[in-house]
Amino acid sequence: ACPYIPIMTLRKIARLGHPVLLTEARPVGDPRDPEIRRLAQDMVETMRDAQGVGLAAPQVHESLRIIVAVDAANADRPGPLVLVDPELTPDGDEREEAFEGCLSIPGLRGLVPRWRRVLWRATSLDGSPITGTADGFLARVLQHEVDHLDGVLYPMRMQ
Ligand code: NI
Repeated sequence: ACPYIPIMTLRKIARLGHPVLLTEARPVGDPRDPEIRRLAQDMVETMRDAQGVGLAAPQVHESLRIIVAVDAANADRPGPLVLVDPELTPDGDEREEAFEGCLSIPGLRGLVPRWRRVLWRATSLDGSPITGTADGFLARVLQHEVDHLDGVLYPMRMQ
């Protein structure tokens, strides 16, 4: 294969009932591993193909702590967020409820409470630490995707 052309592959999405979705994913360690980069690229492609707004590696049968999320509101940072070993901290104590769906639970939606704002920190694909803040929709997507890394699906958060 030519090393200069990224070859992206759609990955199969795990559906509710598959044990990978209930498993705590392991930390990545060195994100500069070409296999990790390839996985992240495939996740972005798979998310776009499925018209999702976020995807976590366990959803494509890789029990690793990687998430991707559409970040449409941020013009300074075009393209999806790719977060390796992400950690979230609530920013404030405000919570709000909204409907969520999940590519692993097709056809359903549920009302889920989430933190209104979060601080996130993670490692980028080039291995450097990155941080940011998110509120509203992006904060919700990040909380949903990080939950996947801990084997938590949104119905478990419904009240
Ligand atoms: Ni999901």
